[in-house]
Amino acid sequence: MDQQSLQQLQQQLLDELSAVQSPEELEAFRLRHLVKKGTIPQLFAQLRSVPKEEKPIFGRLVNELRQVVEQRFQELKQQFEQKAAVQPTVDLTLPGRQPLAGIHHPVYATMAEMLQIFQEMGFTVVVGPEIEDDYHNFEALNFPPDHPARDMQDTFFIEPERENPILLRTHTSPVQIRVMENLRPPIRTVMPGRVYRNEAISVRSLAEFHQIEGLYVDRSVTFAEMKGMLVAFVQRFYGAETQYTFRPSFFPFTEPSAEMDITCFLCKGKGCRVCKFTGWLEILGCGMVHPNVLRACDIDPEEFSGFAFGMGVERITMLRTGITDIRMLYDNDLRVLEQFA
Ligand code: DAH
Repeated sequence: MDQQSLQQLQQQLLDELSAVQSPEELEAFRLRHLVKKGTIPQLFAQLRSVPKEEKPIFGRLVNELRQVVEQRFQELKQQFEQKAAVQPTVDLTLPGRQPLAGIHHPVYATMAEMLQIFQEMGFTVVVGPEIEDDYHNFEALNFPPDHPARDMQDTFFIEPERENPILLRTHTSPVQIRVMENLRPPIRTVMPGRVYRNEAISVRSLAEFHQIEGLYVDRSVTFAEMKGMLVAFVQRFYGAETQYTFRPSFFPFTEPSAEMDITCFLCKGKGCRVCKFTGWLEILGCGMVHPNVLRACDIDPEEFSGFAFGMGVERITMLRTGITDIRMLYDNDLRVLEQFA
């Protein structure tokens, strides 16, 4: 072993390291040259056979070679380790996942919009129980005992055997009674809520739906005021150009009673499938609160008068959204609902 061949060996080992491309090749280098039986430790073994006087020089050269090569080896090793560490485990360029944000159900959105208009008109919002009794749902509302609406076929009775049977309210009108039992005129309230009827479920009807009830009681409230208020509501909600008509009707709890129709807002009165080619849509029932109803709530009909109205929310929601099967509103299919976000 001479000085020159040691220098050549050093250069050769450095060249080998320069050619290393991967951690595997680096490991192969280590196994060839750095482990116990590898090239460099072998050099130290050979030192023993070097003549004594040359030992310091060769010792220094071999040490230097080992230092230089090992330093380069460590550098490379670190480089590979760093590369592995920064190798991203997630692809940061992928688009993020959109979180599902809640939206108002179209029925509730419709209801909220209607209530907003009534509130701006000075009505307060009041809610009543869905589980009612016969007295509030029927009797106090002046339904005669044999009225067909009390029939088992329309009403879900919970405890039919009681003297005052417990039932699921069939309309929001009983909330009128609860309001008048608890407040004295002037009363201006709207009463939204869920109602139940024992009806076959079909494209057009559900056994569970929503209504908004309205009640206005004060001194000398007139039918003309009722009309003016409802027309103002309709023109706000359906558009200023909406035409309307009031038809005489009958409800036990109002006298006189009427139903309000508006020009179909889809065909503008020309006639289409939605309005069954009549050009008109029935949107609500209304009337002057029957004196018997006021009396039942201990309000003197000689001193006070009032008007009431009730409207369904689902049908209007269907008309606005273009949903033609009422059941789709409650299938909770997000593909349907998220269209109305
Ligand atoms: N309660 C009636 C129904 O469910 C709707 C209604 C009609 C409510 C006339 C009223 C009213 O307050 O005055 O069909």
